[in-house]
Amino acid sequence: MARRSPVRREPRRVLPPPAAPRTANLVNLDAEDAALSELQKGLLRTPREIPCKYFYDDRGSALFEEITRLPEYYPTRTERALLIERAAAIVEAAGGAALTDVVELGSGAAEKTVCLLDAAFAAGGRPRYVAVDISAHALQRTRDILAAARPEVRVEEVLADYTQGLALPPRLPGGRRLVLFLGGTIGNDEDPEAVQLLSRVREHLDERDVLLLGANLVTDPDLIHAAYNDAQGVTALFNKNALTAVNAFARSAFDPAKFDHHAPYRVEKRRIEMWLVAREAMEVDLGRLGQTLPLKKGEGIRTEISRRFLRDEVLRLIDASGFTPERWMESPDGRFGLALGLSRSSLHGL
Ligand code: AVJ
Repeated sequence: MARRSPVRREPRRVLPPPAAPRTANLVNLDAEDAALSELQKGLLRTPREIPCKYFYDDRGSALFEEITRLPEYYPTRTERALLIERAAAIVEAAGGAALTDVVELGSGAAEKTVCLLDAAFAAGGRPRYVAVDISAHALQRTRDILAAARPEVRVEEVLADYTQGLALPPRLPGGRRLVLFLGGTIGNDEDPEAVQLLSRVREHLDERDVLLLGANLVTDPDLIHAAYNDAQGVTALFNKNALTAVNAFARSAFDPAKFDHHAPYRVEKRRIEMWLVAREAMEVDLGRLGQTLPLKKGEGIRTEISRRFLRDEVLRLIDASGFTPERWMESPDGRFGLALGLSRSSLHGL
C-alpha cells in the first residue's frame, strides 16, 4: 500500500506559492489527489484493482463487524480467545506497569482490545488508548464500546488512512508504547508493502517498545474458503460495497448489482483473493477520474488479498521491519498467530 504515486494536480485546483503556510485543508487536498491517483492506477492496472481500504466506509465497517460474528468467519473469535489467554504475558513483555500507551491500527469495534487494557490495569498500569481507523463510524464504535466497558481508560482517536502515512500523538514521556496491528490485516499486503507499513510503525517507537501483530496462518483450504463465502452473503455485500464507496469518493457510476462476488483461496499463493466480476460488458463513468472504464463480461476487479502465513514468514516480516521477534503465540487449532516484536535501533541486525 501507500504506493508512491505521483501526485496528480488538476488544473482547476490552484495551489498557493510554496512559501505560503499550509493549512490542514490543503494537506487534505493533497491526500485526496494522491488517493484519486492511486485509485486510477489500480483500475487501469492488469488485473484491475480497487485498494481494499474502500471496504471501510461507514456501511462497510458495520458489515465487517457483522462478518466477524458469522459462523464461518473464524479469524476474529480465534484471535480473541488467544488474546484473552495471553493478555497478561503480552502486557508483561510490553512493560507491565510501565506501559503508558496502547496504539491500535484499525481499531474497528475494539472488542478484542479490552482484555489487553484490563491486563495492563491489573499489572498496575494506566495506559491511554490511541485508536487509529479510516472510518469515523468505527471510531465512534470504539469510543462507545470503551466508554461503556472501561470508562476509566482515556481514549484518543485518530481518523486516518494509515497506508498513506502514520501520524500519531506524541508518546507519553518515560513510558512504553505497545502498538497493536491485529485481525490479520497485515495479510492484505504483499511483502514489500507489509514491511513498509511495519517499518513506518517502527519509526514511532523507541527501543524496546513493542509491536503485537496478528496473522492468519495456513490451514484447511475449505475452511478458509467458507470464511470468505458465507451462506448469508454478508461478505458478498461487503465486497460490493467497495464500489459504492468508490462511487462516493470519485463520483463514479459503478452499479454493484452488475457484479458477482468471487473469493477463491489460491492454495499455491496461500491467499484468499476477493474479486468483483462483471456480469455483463459495460462502460463505467469514472467521475472525477475523467475517463470511462470498459469492462468485458466476466472481467474481474480485485478488491483484496488476504494471506495465510507460515510462522517463519511472520517472524521474517517483523524482523525485516526493525523488530526483534520476542514471542510467538498460536491458537490451539493453529489457525491464527500473534507475534510480539521488540523495537530495535534501526540499522541493527538488518
Ligand atoms: C479485516 C482485513 C482482516 O482479510 O479477513 C473479511 C477483511 N475480507 N472478509 C480479512 C475481510 C473479507 C479481513 N481483514
